[in-house]
Amino acid sequence: MINIIKVNNEQQFNETGAGIIASLLQSKPRAILGLATGSTPVGVYGKVIDLYREGVVSFKQASSYNLDEYIGLPANHPESYRQFMNDKLFNHIDILLENTHVPSGNAVDPDKAAADYSELLENAGQIDLQLLGLGHNGHIGFNEPSDELQGPPHIVTLDERTRQANARFFKSIDEVPTHAITMGIGSILHAKQILLMAKGADKAEIVAQALKGPITTQCPASFLQTHPNVVVLLDQAAGRLV
Ligand code: GLP
Repeated sequence: MINIIKVNNEQQFNETGAGIIASLLQSKPRAILGLATGSTPVGVYGKVIDLYREGVVSFKQASSYNLDEYIGLPANHPESYRQFMNDKLFNHIDILLENTHVPSGNAVDPDKAAADYSELLENAGQIDLQLLGLGHNGHIGFNEPSDELQGPPHIVTLDERTRQANARFFKSIDEVPTHAITMGIGSILHAKQILLMAKGADKAEIVAQALKGPITTQCPASFLQTHPNVVVLLDQAAGRLV
């Protein structure tokens, strides 16, 4: 079931997203979070940090598993997703760094790194809340449109459009990695609850396709329609067509 929440401004967007995360932690301090990168959740993480500083929420017993990571960037590269998570969230809250997990992007054997992440997720048990952004082509995590989607964590070749969209974070497009390691659609759909977030007019069309269009591997986010508990957080612009 999909529950759409449309908010009027950035502040409401961030408060709503952070509120969903905080209430989970309040009712279940040992919650397992599935976390996402990209520009969309940054403000939500900012608000989560505020709530932590105000004493509303603690992550001391929580653990987290990130969706994806670029292949070929060392963990301390400024654009690695590990670095992103440390900068935007982990370094500012009381989560124990050893309880935070991001796939390894610079392993000698990436396929083994994907298999290891798969095993780690299996041993962790069910993710309580999986956060997701949405790519312009309908990707979630780095599950790109394709004739086939994979269930478990795996290595993907990034779409040219994805590389172009993410080039804004690098000095030039040549520096954007060509491959990534990502949770599969199966790993994502296994979560108890999913929070999909999208902002801006440029996402309106893909939001509509994902939520109202046919369920197809050409729009990986459309598989969210098969999940029993999805909350979709949208600003007015992204929600224009739904
Ligand atoms: C990136 C990430 C996704 C993210 C998406 C949208 O490539 N791998 O996890 O959801 O693209 O990014 P943004 O929120 O910046 O629009």
